[in-house]
Amino acid sequence: MSIDTRKLQAYRASLLHFHADPAFSENAHAWHADGLLVVDADGRVAAAGEYAALAPTLAPGTPVHDWSGKIIVPGFIDTHLHFPQTDMIASPAPGLLPWLETYTFPTEGKFADPVHARAVAEFFLDELLRNGTTTAAVYCTVHKESVDAFFEASAARNLRMAAGKVLMDRHCPDFLRDSADMRDSEELIRRWHKRGRAMYAITPRFAPTSTEAQLAATGELARAWPDTYIQTHVSENKDECTWVGELFPQRRSYLQVYEHYGLMRPRALFGHCIWLDDADFALLADTGSAIAHCPTSNLFLGSGLFDMASADEAKALLSLGTDVGAGTSFSMLQTMNEAYKVARLKGSYLPALRMFYLATLGAARSMRLEGTIGNFAAGAEADFIVLDPQATPLLARRTAQSDTLEETLFALALLGDDRAIRATYAAGRLVHEREGMLA
Ligand code: GUN
Ligand code: ZN
Repeated sequence: MSIDTRKLQAYRASLLHFHADPAFSENAHAWHADGLLVVDADGRVAAAGEYAALAPTLAPGTPVHDWSGKIIVPGFIDTHLHFPQTDMIASPAPGLLPWLETYTFPTEGKFADPVHARAVAEFFLDELLRNGTTTAAVYCTVHKESVDAFFEASAARNLRMAAGKVLMDRHCPDFLRDSADMRDSEELIRRWHKRGRAMYAITPRFAPTSTEAQLAATGELARAWPDTYIQTHVSENKDECTWVGELFPQRRSYLQVYEHYGLMRPRALFGHCIWLDDADFALLADTGSAIAHCPTSNLFLGSGLFDMASADEAKALLSLGTDVGAGTSFSMLQTMNEAYKVARLKGSYLPALRMFYLATLGAARSMRLEGTIGNFAAGAEADFIVLDPQATPLLARRTAQSDTLEETLFALALLGDDRAIRATYAAGRLVHEREGMLA
């Protein structure tokens, strides 16, 4: 192996990452109990493997940061959440539609003010980093100022983030209503898409808040910009599904509304996907669209239980989202915890290794970013986190009893949260560090 030795940084710890989906492949993960992650001067992975094998290849004087006793994994990827909803997380309401009307729309109205938008974006991104999330697919509001504020704050931290302006032109308050005119979105795409690590996401909120004219214009925009993302909600809540049936009676299913307007394709991310049938799951798979399963949100709003077995049966791309502010935690560990329980309630079993896959490489594949983020392939961007199995007294006691990697990861997922994220690195740079319990 030849490594360019200019200004390398190395990190010693246990290493875990994936090159396949453990639900479908044996030996899908790489595990190095005493591992080394080597990062080059451009913030990319130079090598990942056994400490004993890689340490002798380092030039004398190469810094080796010692995280022994910790586990380095790729940064988490959250494929569905709303930055403007940060301040309204944990707002009580009996279900999705009253929650949107009572809290969400008034809260999002405040983002016409760029000063407010910037302040929330800064807090939101720091909160993601505290929770070990280095990439996310993020909804802004209808205000283009909210998108500028988000991407400016993201660029200042050099983060790989997808985000976009929400599109809605009916069934919403006047102060949030836009139109079928896509010029704002187009301007934002030209300004931000692929600028540094930014990626634009065309963001129709959900079918009920768009006229057919707006959905058609959105589909045309998506066709004109095939390497942007598309993100929206689908089949989250039964009342919502009934409403969509009334608004679009000519479509067989809610999902087919999006298909009809050209909004199903690679890089299309669909939040929730609860009330789908097998034909819908097949449509997701056939179009290369991806599912963002958001268990904390679905339990909080009482939306329903996602059917992972049917998604897997169809081989649809699958990932996890927090869906903050309907989601109740920024932590992908807590999101895994709830995903595990939802799977159990649906009669499935979700191993911890699969949960970590879904939060890393599974999400990167859903976003068509394999090779860029999501694992430690040589040349990938070095977004990684340091997990602390001793972060709390209880975690320390439980993980001391673990006989297997699966048990340790399971304890981290079930008992862990932001306290288990000892450090977060974006493109090789430390962007968050917390004190250890016994520091
Ligand atoms: N459906 C339409 N808008 C939203 C939203 O902001 N949050 C959730 N969870 N579902 C939605
Ligand atoms: Zn959402």
